[in-house]
Amino acid sequence: MSTTGESLSTQDEVTAEIGAVQQRYRDDVAAGRQHTVDTLLDFPPYRSSELRHPTKDPHLVDPETIELVSPAFGHWEVAPIEADLTNRHVGGEPQGQRMVVTGRVLDGNGRPVRHQLVELWQANAGGRYIHQRDRHPAPLDPNFTGAGRVITDDEGRYRFTTIKPGAYPWRNHLNAWRPAHIHFSIFGNAFTQRLVTQMYFPDDPLFALDPIYQSIPDQKARDRLIATYDHELTTPEWALGFRWDIVVDGPQATWFEQDGDQA
Ligand SMILES: [Fe+2]
Repeated sequence: MSTTGESLSTQDEVTAEIGAVQQRYRDDVAAGRQHTVDTLLDFPPYRSSELRHPTKDPHLVDPETIELVSPAFGHWEVAPIEADLTNRHVGGEPQGQRMVVTGRVLDGNGRPVRHQLVELWQANAGGRYIHQRDRHPAPLDPNFTGAGRVITDDEGRYRFTTIKPGAYPWRNHLNAWRPAHIHFSIFGNAFTQRLVTQMYFPDDPLFALDPIYQSIPDQKARDRLIATYDHELTTPEWALGFRWDIVVDGPQATWFEQDGDQA
């Protein structure tokens, strides 16, 4: 069960563990036993979650005053160019499949969450992040940094132009690969409200094998993380279109990372 040296588990072992945990979850649901969290924070197939997950119940604390009123972002602080990850470098455009990702940020009643900072970060087309800890032998792209941000409009809409990220390996177990994904953050009106999640792409063959995606026990909640290909949004000769709404609360809420998650 170690994550080091020669004792890494195989994918088959991890897949079997995922299946066993999810079977217990389905049994609990069938038996009417209540689940209070959407994510299985202590999810042994996701090895490092065993070390990082909270071991105590959370305590509600009052945020300090400054945290209730800051930060406030306006259009004047976030330039339109920051929503386009393909034209940020004077050397040229990044490699990869150009695409537009757009959608709405909504509350649990379907109302738009207006004028909120939406941030995105992602690997390049080869599955590589510009990060000290990402040293796997895929090329960095000198024309791609992989971060963008935008403010939602009056209808809660956001829109990014970027390239499709590649899948990448990580060392959870032998031959572990993350499905292609984009990280999203919704800042809200205060530091205490920040929500972080991941968007995936339809029909990724790695879904069933990924302990992070599979740590969300409910299939419907997992499905809500997958963008929809939208041919109406696709632009001839230029970019594919994907649509993905983010729901910040309520029964249809998007899954958000808890303390201890990362990816
Ligand atoms: Fe990632």
